[in-house]
Amino acid sequence: MSANTSTPAITAGDILAQKGKTPIVSLTAYTTPMAQMMDAHCDFVLVGDSVGMVLHGLPSTLGVTMEMMILHGAAVARGLSRAMLVIDMPFGSYEEGPQQAFGNAARLMRETGCAAVKLEGGVEMAETIRFLVERGIPVMAHVGLTPQSINTLGGYKVQGRDAAGAAVLEGAHAVADAGAFAVVLEKVPQKLADEITAAVPIPTIGIGASAGCDGQVLVVDDMLGLFTAFKPKFVKRYGNLGVEAEAAIADYAAEVRARSFPAPEHVFADQPAPDQTASKG
Ligand code: KIV
Repeated sequence: MSANTSTPAITAGDILAQKGKTPIVSLTAYTTPMAQMMDAHCDFVLVGDSVGMVLHGLPSTLGVTMEMMILHGAAVARGLSRAMLVIDMPFGSYEEGPQQAFGNAARLMRETGCAAVKLEGGVEMAETIRFLVERGIPVMAHVGLTPQSINTLGGYKVQGRDAAGAAVLEGAHAVADAGAFAVVLEKVPQKLADEITAAVPIPTIGIGASAGCDGQVLVVDDMLGLFTAFKPKFVKRYGNLGVEAEAAIADYAAEVRARSFPAPEHVFADQPAPDQTASKG
């Protein structure tokens, strides 16, 4: 797999510098055409391990592999020239320790051209984050609901309500102290998200958190209405493309069965018409 050789304009330093200024805009992407549509509008594009559920039909993100992240990461890299590319480290690719994390993060960067990696966890991941950052790998952290830990968290519940909020805050401080350039806050109460945003020196990127976060990220298939298996409360649908796509497929199927597609304009004559001799059609 060859990496995208061009370097997108926006860097981890630029994202960090946006804290408290302009809100940071991000979406997930998994393909080149989607990345091309986002490049002018997003500050960073995330190849999330949500790809496993959204595009591959997996029941959770736990089955996502390095190979899947590299395949989709390289595709997204080919669609970006401006927005920064961040790629999720999949479950099992970094938790053993800093050395394992470095090997896999370096592979993601080498084989896709991404500018940073994202990994899930707070205090327990601080040492690994520091190790990566000190060796040239910008890291985005992810605390609150960390979907790779659903089996220990007991499902996709809001994290940090009441007394449990202190642990989420502690995790955000730990990843910031370790050198992460930003931290995703997923599914935490609004008040806690605002408290963390005020307390840490790095941008907070909310998903199911607060409009007061330094930025927002959504899964693109959720916000376009392409992924319809379920809709978390924090998702706003800005489009209904799933319904439109199914209607288009149904129209096509009906026209094929009625032999009304292809129509005369979609088929070729034995001889090109005189005015079409120069065309390749
Ligand atoms: O995998 C993903 O898409 C993510 C975002 C939801 C933040 O981690």
